Amino acid sequence: MNVLFVCLGNICRSPAAEGVFRQIAHGCATDSAGTGSWHVGEPPYGPMQDAARARGYDLSDLRARQFSARDFDRFDLIIGMDASNIANIERLRPKDSTTPVRLFTDYAPDTGMDEVPDPYYTRDFDGALDLIELCAKGLCRDIGV
Ligand code: 4NP
Repeated sequence: MNVLFVCLGNICRSPAAEGVFRQIAHGCATDSAGTGSWHVGEPPYGPMQDAARARGYDLSDLRARQFSARDFDRFDLIIGMDASNIANIERLRPKDSTTPVRLFTDYAPDTGMDEVPDPYYTRDFDGALDLIELCAKGLCRDIGV
């Protein structure tokens, strides 16, 4: 199973999701990408790295890249952090692609959340990590890893 996490900038939510998921998912490959190109080549945002490191997730090796249509062939499952991510992903779907695209919060229905709020704007990095951990655990249960 090869899982791609996608957000807007690829410096806060999706690298955090990748960092959490790679630590708890067994036998899965994972990556993350942003639909925007502003931060390509940059490491995750400092405050996001700090909050993640405090919980034992080291994000320092990650570098931002932009999501592309080729990702539909490279991954078995593509996960967006909010509805606008999903819309931006679907806009690039090749005609013949059946790769599932899901909202991360679908894996944590008990939270009642329909998106991972962007901590780049809310500044609530711990709140984002709380939700990302719940979604990642739910995803692992769902795909049986
Ligand atoms: P992310 O947050 O999508 O969770 O990485 C963002 C970070 C930076 C920007 C947008 C979203 N930006 O526009 O610079």
